[in-house]
Parts: sequence; structure tokens; C-alpha cells
Amino acid sequence: MFNDKKVVFSGVQPSGNLTIGNYLGAIRNFSAFSEEYHCYYCVVDMHAITVRQVPAELRRRTYETLALYIACGLDPQKNTLFVQSHVPQHAELGWVLDCYTMFGELSRMTQFKDKSAKNADNINAGLFTYPALMASDILLYQTELVPVGQDQKQHLELARDIANRFNQIYGETFVVPEGYIAKGGAKIMSLQEPTKKMSKSDANENAVVRILDSKDDIMRKFKRAVTDSGNEIICGEGKEGITNLLNIYTCFTNKTVEEAQREFAGMGYGAFKLAVGEVCADSLRPVRDEFARLMADKAYLEQVMAQGAEDAYKNARRTMSKVRRKLGFTELKR
Ligand code: TRP
Repeated sequence: MFNDKKVVFSGVQPSGNLTIGNYLGAIRNFSAFSEEYHCYYCVVDMHAITVRQVPAELRRRTYETLALYIACGLDPQKNTLFVQSHVPQHAELGWVLDCYTMFGELSRMTQFKDKSAKNADNINAGLFTYPALMASDILLYQTELVPVGQDQKQHLELARDIANRFNQIYGETFVVPEGYIAKGGAKIMSLQEPTKKMSKSDANENAVVRILDSKDDIMRKFKRAVTDSGNEIICGEGKEGITNLLNIYTCFTNKTVEEAQREFAGMGYGAFKLAVGEVCADSLRPVRDEFARLMADKAYLEQVMAQGAEDAYKNARRTMSKVRRKLGFTELKR
């Protein structure tokens, strides 16, 4: 099915609460990769336990995340969709890479500093070595390209450093991955503070539109979107709110900003906000419907997981054998 295509890998935390920023800037565009690349999309349940989880919820969100990926257009026949803990080589290589990652490097990771500030009562070793596990996710599949958000660039840089370091000591072992930051239309801002990126963990629910929000919720959030004291529907400085709404509108409709500005010329802000909400809710309806259908079909999701794990395992095992040989681990003849 995949031959010797170059590899794309991305990991996603098991949470069903992805935003339209994640959708428009990332997931929606992932399906285009599968022509040219062998794509792995991994639900990273092992990363998730670096913060305390309720087991039943972790399990449910793992299914949800897989279903959401499929609902957003990732065809399991054309992409390897799998769950991290189903492929034991992630943990195995994770330990190895821990031994090639420096304390000082991990100490500099801003996500570690943020998360330890937020979880002061549970600053565990896994939270600290998280980036080495992430490097193992990527390096196991000889990944060329890693689509990531801005917040993961530092971790990706570290994965590259670890790969280079290992290659320098043991000879060519890992492909050194490149980050892929989506161009155009990617940056969706908060509806309440349009100078800040829309964040899935924003405490103010009105600031964030989620892929799975109901139409009522979507309309309410757009209605309340912060704008400015002017009355012109154009992009520009001091008009971050309107700029963001125009940007969201053009992303969903594939129109240009100029076209959108012309279309809305002379319209009041209230009506404009409703129009953007309408387009957003209607565009997401098929995703929401498909998600509901998939969540009602656990057997199908389990089949996707099994197929994905088998494919990932085959390729992960190949890299892991190479690593074991290079390290000088003895081989068991069975
Ligand atoms: N750390 C990433 C995040 O929090 C998730 C992730 C885990 C990942 N492994 C990965 C992303 C490998 C890209 C590649 O969003």
C-alpha cells in the first residue's frame, strides 16, 4: 500500500476538544500529504499520562480522537492511524533516547516549565523526559516531515539534535526530520482576545470554537466575538477581531480576503458575525455527523486501530532492530 514513500508523522494528544484553529491550520490539510508520503497519525496516550488522567476518560478520548481524525477526512486506507501504546517500540526507543538526551536540554524546554508550574504537585520524570518520547515517535518511522504547531517547534528541534547526536556516535541510523509549519490561513486567533492565538485550553469557552461544537454554541460564540469601535469590515491594524473573522471566513469558503471584504462592504458587524458563524457551523456539520456515526461504531474504530498498529509495528520494529544492533545489545536467536 505504501511502498518506499517518504514519511510524515504527527502525534495528537487524546482529547476531543480540538479547535477550528487545529482544523483549518492542520488536520484539514493532512489528507493532501497521503499522495506523496506514507503518513502516520498517532494518538499519543503515553504522552497523556504525564499528567493525571481518569482512566475511563482517557479511553473514551482515545476513541474520540481517532474518530475525529477520520471525520476530518483522513482515510484509514490511505494513512496509518494508530494508538501509541499499541506499538511497544515507542517506549523501548523512548528509554534508549533518554540516555542520549541531556538533563540541561530537557530543563530548557518551555513546555516542561509551563506544565510543571501548572501541575506543581505532580512534576514527574515522565513530564521531564516527554520530549525524548516524542523524538522516539518521530525517529522510529524514519520521518522526513513533521507537521507541528508553533508550540512544538522546540521539541522538534530537540528531536533533530538527538537524531544527529545518535547518528554521529553510531553512524547513519535515523533520518533527521524537518518541521512542517502550515503556510497561509493557519493562524486563527481567540474570539475574545484576537491578539492571542485560539487555544484549546483557554479558560474562557467563548474564546474558542471547537470542531465538535453544536451550531447553537458556534453561533453564540461568534455573536459574542470581540471586534472594535469602528464599522468597516476590513483587515487592518487595530481591527484584529474583524481581521480574524475575515480570515476564518476565507478559510472555510476558500475565498480571498479581497472577495470577502467586497462581499461584506456596508454590512453591520452584527450581521457579519452571524454570517461567519453560519459558514463555520455549516462547514463543520459533516464532520460532526461523521464523528457521531463513527463513535456509534466502536467495532470499526477498533479495526482501524488494529490495522494501524500492525502497520506501524512492522516499520517500528525495523528501526528498533537497527538501533539494538548499533547499541551493542545482544540478539536472541529464537
Ligand atoms: N507533543 C505533541 C503535542 O503536545 C504531541 C506529539 C507527541 C507529537 N509525539 C509527537 C507531535 C510526534 C508531532 C510528532 O501536541
